[in-house]
Amino acid sequence: MRAAVLASGRGSNLQAILDACSKDGLPIEIVGVGSDQPGTVALKRALVAGIPTRVFQLSDYPHRQAQEEDMLIWMRENRVELLLLAGYMKVLGPRFIRQANFPVMNIHPSLLPAFAGLHAQRQALEYGVKVSGCTVHLVDEGLDSGPIILQEAVPVLAGDTEESLAQRILEVEHRLYPEAIRRLVLGKVERTGRRVQILQQEVI
Ligand code: GAR
Repeated sequence: MRAAVLASGRGSNLQAILDACSKDGLPIEIVGVGSDQPGTVALKRALVAGIPTRVFQLSDYPHRQAQEEDMLIWMRENRVELLLLAGYMKVLGPRFIRQANFPVMNIHPSLLPAFAGLHAQRQALEYGVKVSGCTVHLVDEGLDSGPIILQEAVPVLAGDTEESLAQRILEVEHRLYPEAIRRLVLGKVERTGRRVQILQQEVI
């Protein structure tokens, strides 16, 4: 399956996906990595892996819709069948989501629907939850509101800072995202409305 990745920053989830492709046989081909930020580490990781990159910087467009239209053209040209958001820190507009004729997946550093949006780890600490975690979900027209594919809990420890909690969650993200992609691509998920059921793995 031909996949594109959008990332805004450090790209450690992108790296986890690239590693899962090269070392663990994740059955997707990353055909392009796009970013709204020029010069990010994510783009450098893609270049090292020999993957074409594109920058879609908002300031180069008259408005957000034009930027997203350009991203869609790029994805169509590359015959993208799956879009993976990996630390892409902009919300894709409803028009983009309606026009994308492929699934769009995202990873978010909280147990959704708690703490959607920016600074999820800070929100969790400020709220005082004892358990947070991460969620891989399909993207719909809302904010981190699409059907949930996989979630995993991560404890919040006494003395945690935003950074220490983010790091503990990130380690789980790097395992959970490739696993969710694998299950979706291999047809191991069944969706009824919002509910996504994970089908049992065959025992070999
Ligand atoms: C990750 O923690 C990801 O879950 C989060 O940004 C970080 C990106 O790290 N995404 C969001 O908050 C999306 N709303 P990375 O660039 O190292 O993959």
